This record gives sequence, structure tokens and C-alpha cells, in this order.
Amino acid sequence: MVPTGYSWLLLSAAFLSAGAEISITPEPAQPAEGDNLTLAVRGLPGELLAYNWYAGPTLSLAYLVASYIVSTGDETPGPAHTGREVVRPDGSLDIQGALMGHSGTYILQTLNRQFQTEVGYGHVQVYEMLAQPVVMANSTALVEHRDTLHLLCSSPSPVEVRWFFNGGALPIAVRLGVSPDGREITRRGIRREEAGAYQCEVRNPVSVSRSEPINLTVYYGPERVAILQDSTARTGCTIKVDFNTSLTLWCVSRSCPAPEYLWTLNGRALKNGQDHLNITSMTASQEGTYTCIVKNPKTLLSGSASVVVKLSGQDGGGCRGVQTVTLQGKTETLEVELQVALDLPPSHEDQRHVPEPEPGTG
Ligand SMILES: *[C@@H]1O[C@H](CO)[C@@H](O)[C@H](O)[C@H]1NC(C)=O
Ligand SMILES: *[C@@H]1O[C@H](CO)[C@@H](O)[C@H](O)[C@H]1NC(C)=O
Ligand SMILES: *[C@@H]1O[C@H](CO)[C@@H](O)[C@H](O)[C@H]1NC(C)=O
Ligand SMILES: *[C@@H]1O[C@H](CO)[C@@H](O)[C@H](O)[C@H]1NC(C)=O
Ligand SMILES: *[C@@H]1O[C@H](CO)[C@@H](O)[C@H](O)[C@H]1NC(C)=O
Repeated sequence: MVPTGYSWLLLSAAFLSAGAEISITPEPAQPAEGDNLTLAVRGLPGELLAYNWYAGPTLSLAYLVASYIVSTGDETPGPAHTGREVVRPDGSLDIQGALMGHSGTYILQTLNRQFQTEVGYGHVQVYEMLAQPVVMANSTALVEHRDTLHLLCSSPSPVEVRWFFNGGALPIAVRLGVSPDGREITRRGIRREEAGAYQCEVRNPVSVSRSEPINLTVYYGPERVAILQDSTARTGCTIKVDFNTSLTLWCVSRSCPAPEYLWTLNGRALKNGQDHLNITSMTASQEGTYTCIVKNPKTLLSGSASVVVKLSGQDGGGCRGVQTVTLQGKTETLEVELQVALDLPPSHEDQRHVPEPEPGTG
């Protein structure tokens, strides 16, 4: 049954005069869910009999929120009343605890003593308080150059999305892979320097929320495999070791994760799966070519490096022997120098190979 308050509006439709100066402004202008919202009305002509509020694009009964009789203050709810709307004597509409569903177009219709009507239009957008978004990745452990990073920022409503890498700006190649709506990242051929913590942040006019970081690992290598003597940076084709002394060979490489190690001596595998090899007491039986083979279990790539380990001293072999032959073909002076050098520790001998500066040509 239609309440009596509706009857006048149906009769008065013919008197509708659009384009009035009635203004309807939401206060606050950008309300959040749960806010008390007022559709404030200004520019009403005086001496009005009644107001009708509609929540919808047309003056349809289905959109009628309430009819209000000014003289008595009687308010009659309409089909579109949600239980939260109250018409004020000045014509404004209060919405207590506004919901997302209160967003949309509102129309105020007035009736004056001459039974003429006027309408004013307003629009309100109620913004949700954004929940914390979640970054979703179909994989967070990728192989460099091979795999594609795919991230999605999950958030239910249309929002502005920003991304963070280790709390700052995205690496440029990743930034180029952000989708037009900002929600997705697609980065083909991920690089190691793009490994790190990724976060997305969503914002609307009333709230901002940042996701927990998601940690991206990028596997690479092994690269630059080398064998170092002891823990120094010294390396070379041949390492000379005194009889009965110890030596540690270190196998170094650039690899993520750390590679698996295999050592061989003259092509035969040694029982050693570590990044270093100890020769505790050097003997002739331990001379030979030591090779370190590294294999990355994630990238399935491998690499190797080799050194020749020789006894120094009494046998006169190794690089020193070769040098003797070479130098003997030259002047006697050099031969003398060499005999002196043979009595020096190997490190001193090495210094003799530093090239002398070229004399200036003036
Ligand atoms: C909205 O108004 C009601 C009634 O006046 C009040 O109890 C409530 O605290 C208000 N809510 C907000 C968010 O201001
Ligand atoms: C990750 O998601 C993208 C897009 O949905 C898809 O093309 C790709 O195959 C997925 N990768 C994996 C490893 O599931
Ligand atoms: C990501 O890494 C940071 C720092 O290492 C750590 O605190 C955090 O718990 C990690 N997050 C996940 C989801 O693993
Ligand atoms: C090797 O060195 C140790 C201690 O330096 C010594 O006790 C041992 O006699 C040496 N062995 C030989 C064969 O020279
Ligand atoms: C090699 O020697 C070092 C110390 O000299 C020791 O810490 C390490 O455990 C040894 N490694 C092996 C495989 O024996």
C-alpha cells in the first residue's frame, strides 16, 4: 500500500521544472564506509511544503527514500529507505553509517505552495576502508634469464596500486612490466639484481594499505669458477708446495644457491664435497692436476677450474725447471741470477717475473 505522502509527487510531475539552482553536496566530500554522511542542500526557495528524496537516477517511486512534510516534520520512508536516512527540516539528508551501497545519484524534489516542483541532483561516492592487499606470485624462486616473474596485487575494489621493491622504487625493467591497471607485473628473463622484497600498496581517497613483502629469489651461476690457494686471492696455473707442508685449495664461484662441489685429482674423483680441499702433508703422490667441478642444483649449470700442484725444492721440476731451460739460452748474467733465485722461497722468485718498465724515449 502506497503511503499518502507519495500522492502529491505523482500528481505534480507535470510541474517539474529542471535546471534549478538547488545544489546537493555530500559532507564529507569523500566519505568512508561507516561515516555519518550528509547530503547538504543549498539554494532552496522559501515557503516549501514538502521534500522527496530519491536514491537513483530518475524520479521513480522505486528510488524514493523518504517524503517529508515541512509543516509537521512528518517523514514517510519510501521503498529505497535503508533505515539509515533521516531528512532534516532544511531539506538535507543525513545518512548514518554510510555503506558502499549508498553511493550513487540522489535527487531532491521540492513542492511549494503553488504545487510546483523543483529538483536538484547530487552524487556521492562512499569509499571502502581498504583491506591489506596480498601480493600473489606463481613462483618466488626463479632462474635468471630463463624464468618470468609474475606478480598480482590482490584487492577487491578499483584502486590506485603502487609497487615497492625493497621499500623503494621498482627496478626499471620490472617497472616496464607493470600492467596498465597497475595490478600485475610480468617480467621476462628475471635478473639477479631484481631479487628482493616486493610489496604492493593500494589507496583510495580515504585509506591506504601496503601488503606484506613477498621475497623473490633469483638463481644464477655458477660463474667465474676459480681455485684459490689458502684464503688469499693468489691464483695461477701452477702451485708449488714444499715437501711435508700443508695446503688448502679453495674453490670459489658466483652462484646462487651455493653450488655442489666435486674435486678430482688427475681426473679421479676425490671424496670431498666441500668448497675447499686440504692437503695436510705434501708428497709426490699428491702432485697433479686438481679440478674443482661446481654444479648449481637449481640452474643445473656447472663449471670447473683446475690448478697443477707440484712439489717445490729438491726435484727441480715444475715451472722453475722450465724457466731454467729458457734462461740458460741467454746470457751468463741471467744464469747467475737464476742460481741465486733458486735458493729463495718461491714467493721471492715470482717477483723476478714482474716486467721492467720500458725506458722512456725522451
Ligand atoms: C554517527 O552518528 C551517531 C549518532 O549521532 C554517533 O553515535 C556515531 O558515533 C557517529 N559516527 C561517526 C563515525 O561519526
Ligand atoms: C605464472 O602466471 C602466468 C600468468 O598467469 C602464466 O603465464 C605462467 O605460466 C605462470 N607460471 C607458472 C610457473 O605457473
Ligand atoms: C622476507 O625476508 C625478510 C628479511 O629477510 C623476512 O623478515 C621476511 O619474513 C621474509 N618474508 C617471507 C614471506 O618469507
Ligand atoms: C713432516 O713434518 C712434521 C712436523 O712438521 C714432522 O714431525 C715430520 O717428521 C715431517 N715428516 C717428514 C717425512 O719429513
Ligand atoms: C681443512 O683444514 C681446515 C683448517 O686448517 C679445517 O677447518 C677444515 O675442516 C679442513 N677441511 C677438511 C675437509 O678436512
